Amino acid sequence: TGLVTLDSGFTNTASCTSAVTYIDGDAGVLRYRGYPIEQLAEKSTFVETSYLLIYGHLPSAAELSAFTERIQRHTLLHEDLKRFFDGFPRDAHPMPVLSSAVSALSTFYPNSLNPFDEEQVELSTIRLLAKLPTIAAYAHRKSLGQPLLYPDNRLGLVENFTRLAFGNPAEDYEIDPVMVKALDQLLVLHADHEQNCSTSTVRLVGSGQANLFASVSAGIHALSGPLHGGANSAVLDMLEAIRNSDDDVDTFMTKVKNKEKGVRLMGFGHRVYKNYDPRAAIVKKTADQILSGLGKRDELLDIAMRLEEIALHDDYFVERKLYPNVDFYTGLIYKAMGFPTKMFTVLFALGRLPGWIAQWREMINDPATKIGRPRQVYIGEGARDYTEIGAR
Ligand code: CMC
Repeated sequence: TGLVTLDSGFTNTASCTSAVTYIDGDAGVLRYRGYPIEQLAEKSTFVETSYLLIYGHLPSAAELSAFTERIQRHTLLHEDLKRFFDGFPRDAHPMPVLSSAVSALSTFYPNSLNPFDEEQVELSTIRLLAKLPTIAAYAHRKSLGQPLLYPDNRLGLVENFTRLAFGNPAEDYEIDPVMVKALDQLLVLHADHEQNCSTSTVRLVGSGQANLFASVSAGIHALSGPLHGGANSAVLDMLEAIRNSDDDVDTFMTKVKNKEKGVRLMGFGHRVYKNYDPRAAIVKKTADQILSGLGKRDELLDIAMRLEEIALHDDYFVERKLYPNVDFYTGLIYKAMGFPTKMFTVLFALGRLPGWIAQWREMINDPATKIGRPRQVYIGEGARDYTEIGAR
């Protein structure tokens, strides 16, 4: 049926129209619903940005407080879902725990299965925004063998999350405003990024009319890979490996350029940005400030800055237009906050959630949406006759 074009990795194929996020990769521009990321990072909050992405406009004061209250009312997990965390192995990686728990939400809210029931989609939206921080904090506590706290709904979303992640039942938890502000800003920076691998996954699963929980759960799995959200953990592993090895930074860079054993400079390069990732520019500016604000100067930051310095002036990186992406500096901040490396991609998922929801809702409400079903170019055998087993 007509000409099929091969576009492995979808480098030049649009899968949808979208009014959510705009990227100009050559100019290093990123906007949510028209608002520049720099302004949102400075002036907005994660909850407000979530509203903006999902509903398309900045909320009025009344809309924002109603939205905030609705989220606060849904932070608790069903006690039976809470027990899921007991079933995972003691050192379970928090990413698959996160996606499993999100997948399980469909079983607790069976009315959520119809993607065209607008009231249920709205409820699922709020439930996801409210419960993902609780689930993420529990996945973290579980991996440490520490007790699970109940959310405190007098607190805002990020405050609540940090208390659930770091607080103890027998002690008052003192909220650290520097950490909360930094984390809130990082979540804003991650909140959407148009048709990236995980968002495309969410849309593809949803295009078969699977519900929001199932689609987001699939998106979390897509995010976990090291070429996508998993890069933020991989960057830290890389920086630590450089620090702990006998090689200096230059020797490591030579290995990257020689493509030795597929070594890549993690946190560098992007399919769309052929210029400095505007999110990385913001993170870099605040990393130093936040690390000193938290009183945690880190020698890994010096290694990272040295790697960047070399890369920005090296022909290999210049010719290929490889610049630091959002994942390059974030891990250092998460580490300073006290998160273990395997939690970094979970934090990315928390940030990306409103984008996934906004894109899924846009997809399901778009009359032009068809089930996602790419074509292929067949390169296998021609027709041949079955050989009986004794004759093979
Ligand atoms: N280090 C060394 N070389 C690289 C890197 C890197 N980080 N990234 C790309 N290259 C080279 C690559 O080897 C290729 O070289 P050549 O032309 O000689 O074959 C060229 O640059 C083009 O790379 P590509 O793999 O064709 O580009 P892509 O658009 O398919 O991949 C990417 C984009 C982000 C997967 C890739 O740059 C990468 O693997 N980066 C490291 C992982 C990473 O930081 N990922 C986070 C992405 S941003 C946030 C997110 O999505 O989570």
